[in-house]
Amino acid sequence: MKKHIFYLTLILIVPLTLYILSLKTVVPIPSDDNHAGITEIIGCLECHADDKGSPKKKTHPPKDQCFNCHKADKKPPAAKG
Ligand code: HEC
Ligand code: HEC
Repeated sequence: MKKHIFYLTLILIVPLTLYILSLKTVVPIPSDDNHAGITEIIGCLECHADDKGSPKKKTHPPKDQCFNCHKADKKPPAAKG
């Protein structure tokens, strides 16, 4: 019985931990002209690579899969045109 309780706790704690980690505030991609319509990471790096105009902070997490963490701002997309 003890074993069951242990596994049950584990099963509950793992998703909870992941959920809490996912809440770590990642700043959204601003919905301004600089960021409109970019779908490729290479596009981001044109401004955010280390030697470009808006480098990321030194403390920035290392991975370059921008969209895994940064989602577009929640505003509805502007009308196409
Ligand atoms: C044309 C240059 C340019 C491109 C391309 C660009 N950015 Fe930016 N980005 C900026 C500038 C300048 C700022 C800071 C001013 C602002 O908030 O708009 C910024 C700010 C940000 C911020 C928020 C910073 C904060 O503190 O709120 C995030 C996140 C970000 N960019 C991610 C991205 C991602 C991801 C991409 C690729 C989809 C991208 N950027 C492409 C110029 C650019
Ligand atoms: C592993 C998740 C993750 C990935 C992948 C990621 N970021 Fe971030 N980014 C964050 C977090 C978390 C912050 C907030 C950091 C802080 O406030 O110190 C952040 C902050 C930023 C900022 C705002 C200020 C700064 O420099 O810290 C910019 C700009 C940014 N990211 C751009 C990018 C771009 C461009 C890419 C792709 C090359 C990228 N990020 C990939 C997690 C990520």
